[in-house]
Amino acid sequence: MTVRKGTLLTPAVEEGTPLNVPRVALVGANGHGRWHRRVIGPLHDAGRVRLVALVDTRPIEPEPAAPVPPDTRVFTDHRAMLGEVAPDVVVICTPPHTHLSIARDAVTAGADVLLEKPPVLSTAEHEELAGALATTGRVAQVGFQALGSAALTALTDAVAAGRVGAVRGIATVAAWQRPDAYYSRAPWAGRRLLDGRPVLDGALANPLAHAVMQCLAVAEAVAGGPVEPATIEVERYRVRPIEVDDTAVLRVRPCQGPPIVAAVTLAGEDFVAGEVLVAGDAGQAVLEYPTDRLLLPGEAAASEVPGRCGLLENLLAHRADPRVPLIVPLARTAPFTAVLTALRSAPEPTLLGDELLDAVGAGPQRVLRISGVNEVLRRAVRQGALPSELGVPWAVAPWRIDLTKPE
Ligand SMILES: NC(=O)c1ccc[n+]([C@@H]2O[C@H](COP(=O)([O-])OP(=O)(O)OC[C@H]3O[C@@H](n4cnc5c(N)ncnc54)[C@H](O)[C@@H]3O)[C@@H](O)[C@H]2O)c1
Repeated sequence: MTVRKGTLLTPAVEEGTPLNVPRVALVGANGHGRWHRRVIGPLHDAGRVRLVALVDTRPIEPEPAAPVPPDTRVFTDHRAMLGEVAPDVVVICTPPHTHLSIARDAVTAGADVLLEKPPVLSTAEHEELAGALATTGRVAQVGFQALGSAALTALTDAVAAGRVGAVRGIATVAAWQRPDAYYSRAPWAGRRLLDGRPVLDGALANPLAHAVMQCLAVAEAVAGGPVEPATIEVERYRVRPIEVDDTAVLRVRPCQGPPIVAAVTLAGEDFVAGEVLVAGDAGQAVLEYPTDRLLLPGEAAASEVPGRCGLLENLLAHRADPRVPLIVPLARTAPFTAVLTALRSAPEPTLLGDELLDAVGAGPQRVLRISGVNEVLRRAVRQGALPSELGVPWAVAPWRIDLTKPE
């Protein structure tokens, strides 16, 4: 069924739009938003969604793999877009400190949202958004796309089937490199605060948030329910005069279940895409979450477990039939946000001295690397220990918080 000109309907329905095709808007269309445009493009071309609006405060950058459809409207203000276009689904891919207000506006306007990670920056914000969802009856899916991977399910199934035995520890290690240009690309990059508002763009909170969330998802499967952090210990380091960590080792001890250690850097010597390690008394399983390669105890080599359920497609399926569960409903991210909330109180990361670093490349593409950092991170996840506990010469005492004690 299509709508004819002159029919009295909300602005959500335009001439020629089949009534059952969800109308999607993307807020934050450059940066990682271009990836969302590449996801939405084929769905639009296949008639499964209609991309009705792009919103960005900056001019829309061309994305050759997903040209902007001729009817798609372009806005610089999400409220104007919500008022004029009334989309069914809003994909939000703006800087983290803008997420809550845009998501609140979108659900209040009647849309469901696909909200990029980190969804919000504190448990208070999480509760506020959860309240807005409850009041409006809308849903939010959070952009932790690696949770839609068949490899993660294969890992948690194997753990549940006893392949690693009783789980003693869950850990993640990742070593990336980010050039100076990464931090100059946006005013919020590398900032703890921007205009007095928390941004928290640290390695744990943002680029390697997936690594932390994958561990929490495994811990959720092991414990049979949401993870409630009891204590959090962290050592945070930086190689440049940014306000947040580019290198960190985090240990979370949940109220129930095994400890979780995340050892990550954006100043790595060798590239480690991101491994999730589940150690049990019958062996260790390793999932390379960005590539979906899984190694289970007794296997000679890792193999790819193909298949990812896209989060937008899953949200569309859930809208069409609520019996289809969301893969990453906002509620599932509460433990991640609890960790983030605790880290807000941690002191400024330690600036490592030049003698520990080497530089590769020049100009905006210069990359700083910490000598020996890969080995430190590997030892941290192997032993479930923080660098200071391993006697690493440049390590500082960890910051600790006990969340079971009243403030
Ligand atoms: N899921 C992933 O793997 C993944 C990967 C990269 C980034 N992200 C997330 O995506 C989000 C955006 O990150 P980015 O690196 O693309 O940031 P960015 O700063 O490079 O790009 C954000 C875009 O949003 C626009 N913008 C800012 N404020 C806006 C507003 N109020 N209304 C409309 N547009 C606005 C900016 O002009 C910019 O084009 C962050 O939450 C980030 O963590 C997720």
